[in-house]
Amino acid sequence: MQLLDGKFVSEKIKQDIAVEAADFLSETGRKPHLVAILVGNDGGSETYVASKMKNCEKVGFQSSLIRYDLTATEEELLGKVREINQDPGVDGLIVQLPLPKHIDPEKVTEAIDHRKDVDGFHPVNLGRMMRNLPCFIPATPYGIMLMLEAYQIDTTGKHCVVVGRSNIVGSPMSILMARNATPGNCTVSLTHSRTANLKDMTLQGDIIIAAIGKKNFITADMVKPGAIVIDVGMNRETSTQTKSGYKLYGDVDFNNVAPISSWITPVPGGVGLMTIIGLLKNTLASAKKEIYK
Ligand code: GUN
Repeated sequence: MQLLDGKFVSEKIKQDIAVEAADFLSETGRKPHLVAILVGNDGGSETYVASKMKNCEKVGFQSSLIRYDLTATEEELLGKVREINQDPGVDGLIVQLPLPKHIDPEKVTEAIDHRKDVDGFHPVNLGRMMRNLPCFIPATPYGIMLMLEAYQIDTTGKHCVVVGRSNIVGSPMSILMARNATPGNCTVSLTHSRTANLKDMTLQGDIIIAAIGKKNFITADMVKPGAIVIDVGMNRETSTQTKSGYKLYGDVDFNNVAPISSWITPVPGGVGLMTIIGLLKNTLASAKKEIYK
């Protein structure tokens, strides 16, 4: 078993991003700028957004966090999104999900100018991704592709079993792994909570991408010996053992799956750190007008 080390790869890529951000600053007189909107104070969202902001500063980007409390209206939020769309000093805009129930995430996602949609959630970006056109790729799938690339994992002709069909991870991941590209060129099975005989499916996976949101869901008996296992799980539980008061668990039973896998991502220290890289790379590409002129 070998570790796909998100810490190592993300730090290396951040160094490259920082060099490009410094060049951008000397050429334009400004830094790439990411704005994040956070509604409410869900513990997980607080942590993830804080990490996004901190990493922006680390690589020499400007970052702004706009907060709303839980009582904010959909109209208020949409108004702010439209205002930021018009601001030439902002390159990327993300609205952290989930949103409170009275705000429709689809409306908010579609309100973001697709040219600033560095989360890659807007239908224009998803549609362009389907067609293999330049676009912002959703940050987590993008980060996973960068990880596979960094370790030069040969994916061509492999059977990739994606577990979970979310808009944020599973669905875009299935498209990327099937694309005629490197990494890519997989035969993909997109499985989910209603898949019959899930274990029969995962046992066929040369690559398993677990994005189902359930702690230790993928057990050793579900994994073919020698498989490559990518764990997207971010299952947060309160803990008395950590300084933060929380402990993070993946979707994969790491202790038992790791010994039979060829490559595996740890949680924490795997995909989560790569998600930030996807977001930073999209923000830089937006600032440099590499995707949309
Ligand atoms: N919630 C969980 N993952 C994400 C993400 O990648 N972007 C945003 N905006 N919200 C999320």
